[in-house]
Amino acid sequence: MFFKLLILALANLAAAEDVNFTYNGFRSANLSLDGNAQFTPNGLLMMTNDTEDQKGHAFYPNPVTFKNSYSNSNVFSFSTTFVFAIRSVSATPGGHGMAFVIAPQRGLPGALNGPFLGLFKLANNGNTTNHVFAVELDTVQSTAFNDIDNNHVGIDINGLNSTDSASAAYYAKKNGGLRNLTLISGKPMQLWVEYDGTHKQINVTLAPINVDKPQAPLISLNHDLAPILNKTMYVGFSSSTGSMNGQAQELVLSQLPKLPRVGGKKMSKLLIIGVPVISVSLVFLAISGVIYAIRRKRKFAELLEDWELEYGPQRFKYKELYIATKGFREKELLGRGGFGKVYKGILPTSKTEIAVKRISHESRQGMKEFVAEIVSVGRLRHRNLVPLLGYCRRKGELLLVYDYMRNGSLDKYLYNQPTVTLNWSQRFKVIRGVASGLFYLHEEWEQVVVHRDVKASNVLLDGELNGRLGDFGLARLYDHGTDPQTTHIVGTVGYLAPEQARSGKATTSTDVFSFGAFLLEVACGRRPIERQGPLQGVILVDWVFSCWKKARPSMRQVVQYLEGDIAFPELSFLWHSSIGLTFAPHEGSDDFAKSYPSSFTGLSYVESTLLSGGR
Ligand SMILES: *[C@@H]1O[C@H](CO)[C@@H](O)[C@H](O)[C@H]1NC(C)=O
Ligand SMILES: *[C@@H]1O[C@H](CO)[C@@H](O)[C@H](O)[C@H]1NC(C)=O
Ligand SMILES: *[C@@H]1O[C@H](CO)[C@@H](O)[C@H](O)[C@H]1NC(C)=O
Ligand SMILES: *[C@@H]1O[C@H](CO)[C@@H](O)[C@H](O)[C@H]1NC(C)=O
Ligand SMILES: *[C@@H]1O[C@H](CO)[C@@H](O)[C@H](O)[C@H]1NC(C)=O
Ligand SMILES: *[C@@H]1O[C@H](CO)[C@@H](O)[C@H](O)[C@H]1NC(C)=O
Ligand SMILES: *[C@@H]1O[C@H](CO)[C@@H](O)[C@H](O)[C@H]1NC(C)=O
Ligand SMILES: *[C@@H]1O[C@H](CO)[C@@H](O)[C@H](O)[C@H]1NC(C)=O
Repeated sequence: MFFKLLILALANLAAAEDVNFTYNGFRSANLSLDGNAQFTPNGLLMMTNDTEDQKGHAFYPNPVTFKNSYSNSNVFSFSTTFVFAIRSVSATPGGHGMAFVIAPQRGLPGALNGPFLGLFKLANNGNTTNHVFAVELDTVQSTAFNDIDNNHVGIDINGLNSTDSASAAYYAKKNGGLRNLTLISGKPMQLWVEYDGTHKQINVTLAPINVDKPQAPLISLNHDLAPILNKTMYVGFSSSTGSMNGQAQELVLSQLPKLPRVGGKKMSKLLIIGVPVISVSLVFLAISGVIYAIRRKRKFAELLEDWELEYGPQRFKYKELYIATKGFREKELLGRGGFGKVYKGILPTSKTEIAVKRISHESRQGMKEFVAEIVSVGRLRHRNLVPLLGYCRRKGELLLVYDYMRNGSLDKYLYNQPTVTLNWSQRFKVIRGVASGLFYLHEEWEQVVVHRDVKASNVLLDGELNGRLGDFGLARLYDHGTDPQTTHIVGTVGYLAPEQARSGKATTSTDVFSFGAFLLEVACGRRPIERQGPLQGVILVDWVFSCWKKARPSMRQVVQYLEGDIAFPELSFLWHSSIGLTFAPHEGSDDFAKSYPSSFTGLSYVESTLLSGGR
């Protein structure tokens, strides 16, 4: 009698967002079994017993996503590798084999044993409605299925007549040529199955366990799996035995080859299942370690829902952005802010320079509205706005793609001893540009867009040092993202209008306040609230007020005003106690205040200062 034992180790099956499992050892394995499959007390999984004509299946219980939501879209790239050893203790060759299988259901109901490998039956062999992909390890030549020999590896698509197959062999290193292998030699071997979803290519590679993965695959088949694999499929193993013609022998578990830890870098978690199969015609001792890692798929996984279809042109592929930013390398990091990190990139196809903002965003709620807004904002076109080219969505993450602005954000040129400072005309150009961009958002576009976060770090400088306002509409994300219980004020401290701090409501007027603070920031080269140095904690607006008070005109200027030689300064002033500005009047300021009772904004102050060329 003959035994066949397979021990499979599946590693870190992370094919899709919704699949993440880890098994440590046979005992904790949680697989969907059928046929004669059962666990043995020592933690192995026995797929068939020593009765003839058996079959068994072991499937990962949960479905694995192979495509995104479109039914006719590409299959994601995936790869799997498993280690096995088949030992024959009988002089008689024969028995049957096993297969790695991707099928629409857990198990393959109605499939036959023997040469059918538990995969198909005669009635459905080759039927395109099967949606089954398998890689067989066959030790019997079945002429009914055009098998090439009794020791081969084959790619089976919907049927047992292999689409492509090869005698067991591997390419030795350094052009050592093709070396034969015998599947039933008892030696552990490793099999890799890889599918490249972009090039629609299936590679199957075999090697002895002590040999690194050969450079060249044993079988390389160009075949699109899109018509075969549905969106979600089940992965597992199928095995069958033939008819009895020998004597069963005790399984010698101690002789099992040690399960190889092929994992290492990317595959740390092993799912380990044992699959002993007792064959009546042969004794097989096979140890298989399966390491299944649809790594590429996981790496490039993104979220795409049906409502996003209309945004096709604005939607970027994550893979494209990944390549553009060289895998979001730290070296490509342009900056980081409250919303997330920004990376520089070059789009692989158009060679356009882009900036990619990665925002972690857990909340799904409101995402649809937010994306709709992003897309509509993407239609804004103004020379003083940073063009938003599009977006990409992943689980818990949103990526926004902007035009790359060569000279970076304005704040770099303002504080912390910048290497390059801007002169007055450059600063004025920036301010005028931002004002014009904001005016467009508020009044010139078809909808009113409240920016909510006007500040120097959101202003970018293009190649000609034009100021361009970025990040418009992003503030909405905070709204969607926050717990409704916590009232979140959107914006940045120091730029928030006093009434906004109270009501939390952003309007075009609150944008104007922020713009005023921004003006002071650019004019003075100071932060709206100084974070360090002797002026730490000083609010810029207050500081400007206090300077203003010392700026009484000289008598020479008074005479010039009165003579009409220079224009009278336009002063409008109101102590802001009523709206909460914490400006503490110094001695002697009362009269001044009373004389200028109309409203003051940072804007009018700086405008007049700037226009008169003062600093
Ligand atoms: C998968 O599960 C493990 C253990 O539960 C967890 O540590 C890991 O972060 C998960 N990975 C992902 C990508 O969800
Ligand atoms: C095994 O799978 C079942 C159903 O899929 C699940 O309820 C159970 O928690 C799983 N057990 C382990 C140990 O993963
Ligand atoms: C093998 O399993 C089958 C079905 O489960 C059962 O009928 C048969 O008795 C078993 N044979 C042995 C030797 O345990
Ligand atoms: C697989 O997808 C095809 C269409 O592509 C569909 O006809 C079939 O019912 C699906 N099979 C399963 C098991 O979902
Ligand atoms: C498989 O190959 C056999 C032998 O050539 C042939 O008779 C049979 O029709 C083939 N089946 C399919 C589904 O192609
Ligand atoms: C394919 O299988 C389906 C369902 O099993 C069956 O109805 C159909 O007749 C089969 N087609 C062929 C060509 O065998
Ligand atoms: C390798 O196997 C092939 C096919 O079975 C056979 O034709 C060839 O002679 C074998 N080569 C060696 C060196 O054994
Ligand atoms: C298949 O092998 C060929 C040749 O080594 C290689 O160029 C190709 O990238 C491989 N494809 C996959 C999907 O691994």
